[in-house]
Amino acid sequence: MKAFDNWQKILIECKNVVQTRIKPYLATIGEPQPNLGIGAGGDAMKPVDLAAEEAIVETLKRNAVSFTLISEESGVKKFGAKSSEYFVTVDPIDGSTNFMRGLPFYCCSIAVSRKPMLFDVFTGLVADLVHDITYTAFEGKGAYRNGKKMETSKTTSLEEAVIGLDLNGNKSKIVLPKLSNLISKTKHIRHFGANALELCYVANGITDAFVDIREKLRTTDAAAGFLILKEAGGIVTTAENKEFDVELDPKQTLSFIASGNKEIHKKIISSVNSAC
Ligand code: IPD
Ligand code: CA
Repeated sequence: MKAFDNWQKILIECKNVVQTRIKPYLATIGEPQPNLGIGAGGDAMKPVDLAAEEAIVETLKRNAVSFTLISEESGVKKFGAKSSEYFVTVDPIDGSTNFMRGLPFYCCSIAVSRKPMLFDVFTGLVADLVHDITYTAFEGKGAYRNGKKMETSKTTSLEEAVIGLDLNGNKSKIVLPKLSNLISKTKHIRHFGANALELCYVANGITDAFVDIREKLRTTDAAAGFLILKEAGGIVTTAENKEFDVELDPKQTLSFIASGNKEIHKKIISSVNSAC
């Protein structure tokens, strides 16, 4: 079996096992969930996060993959005899707060690379666990939604565009002034609360761009979504319009503007840079 088919099969199997394992926790939605300590990414770990991570690790081991896990929850761990053969970067549940509140927008994100660097990711999966929709990509082979090839949007008008903005957290005082022009020019601003899936929305043309310049998002959340977006024809750069590569590490954070096409990207960049 070719590497492409093999990884697709393994990643889909991971997603299926995650979906089964999180089912019992759906019954406890809305109830307080015990904290199981602080995860490698710096947030409190909940039982559902660890159950999803375990599901991924077990599935990879069952498929005889030797790998280094880079997880938002357990951090960096080695599995198998040749653990530096593959690096598997995961956010087992992106949108944990949504999950625990019963807000139907959360996903699982898995990225695979030969080196622990963002640009080395060659395949990835983001699974919308609410609607059972799977976004996948393999370097050079395009991006797919439930197996159907995806393309980004052709919208170039900021006014008509639907743009995701992440303003969460204590960086909003710095970030908000930079985004004020963009907010005032765009009629449809959104934030759903699971950034890996929001990147796939841009990949699929559901939204036209997603902006997260807080320098807070972890590589574990973004690694698969970036590949999926790029393979669908989208663009990801810094707010200064520079391409960037970073180490895949649960503590490594990034800032980015992700767009469906070059024209809208240019407009977003210029609006962010012309703000006070
Ligand atoms: C969070 C979501 C959220 C973003 C946070 C992330 P998590 O991921 O992607 O939209 O604002 O910065 O940490 O913690 O639910 O995996
Ligand atoms: Ca998470």
